Amino acid sequence: MPTILITAGPTQEAIDPVRYLTNRSSGKMGYAVAQAAAKKGNHVILISGPTNIDIPDSVDFIPVETAEEMYTAVEYWIQKAELALFSAAVADYRMKEQHSQKIKKTEEELTLTLVKNKDILGSVRSEFNFKGTLVGFAAETENLIENARKKLLKKECDFVVANDVSQSGVGFDSDQNEVFLVFPDTEEPLGEHSKEHLGEMIVNRALDLHEQR
Ligand code: PMT
Repeated sequence: MPTILITAGPTQEAIDPVRYLTNRSSGKMGYAVAQAAAKKGNHVILISGPTNIDIPDSVDFIPVETAEEMYTAVEYWIQKAELALFSAAVADYRMKEQHSQKIKKTEEELTLTLVKNKDILGSVRSEFNFKGTLVGFAAETENLIENARKKLLKKECDFVVANDVSQSGVGFDSDQNEVFLVFPDTEEPLGEHSKEHLGEMIVNRALDLHEQR
């Protein structure tokens, strides 16, 4: 059985000691994938940004806060994995310079300068030399399949789990999700289900593909 690495949740990028940049990811989708993989008896490494949900049973849990910490954790742990699924919603930008003291509200306007974070999934093949089965996620608000396929090709994934995060009741933070599995030439709609059920479906598909590779 393969060792499976999963990233989940948001990252938090500090602005000053009391504020941060983040997004609406709850971690539910990634934790459901991790739980499904562990239930099947696989060794699971779950690298997660900050969430308020219970850690799945029987996983090696690696907590991180920032995109840079997630990058470093993935760089280390991916060497031990044969299959990897990247469901984390990584902040694309962080503060150019973090303020060491709380920013005072003296000015009417405040400009924050941000710099781009490294693309973790995009580094897995090229920088970390990962040869295993690689599954990305894509959170899109338009052109779902087209944009997901662009990510699939750019990041050299075997397939991408695409979700339309503009729809209410699915995607970020809800208990339900509706996803498509996007392959280089085809796509498979999995429909709308609980994240637990989708986690099982995604893991089963990833394991099938892993066996065929
Ligand atoms: O956590 P939930 O509330 O349950 O919500 C689930 C979800 C909507 C967060 C999840 O299903 C999902 O879509 N995750 C991916 C979110 C995302 O950031 O997508 P993206 O299209 O911006 O990124 C594409 C892929 O690159 C993702 O696999 C992402 O993990 C990865 N990435 C992105 C940026 C970056 N710097 N490093 C990365 O690894």
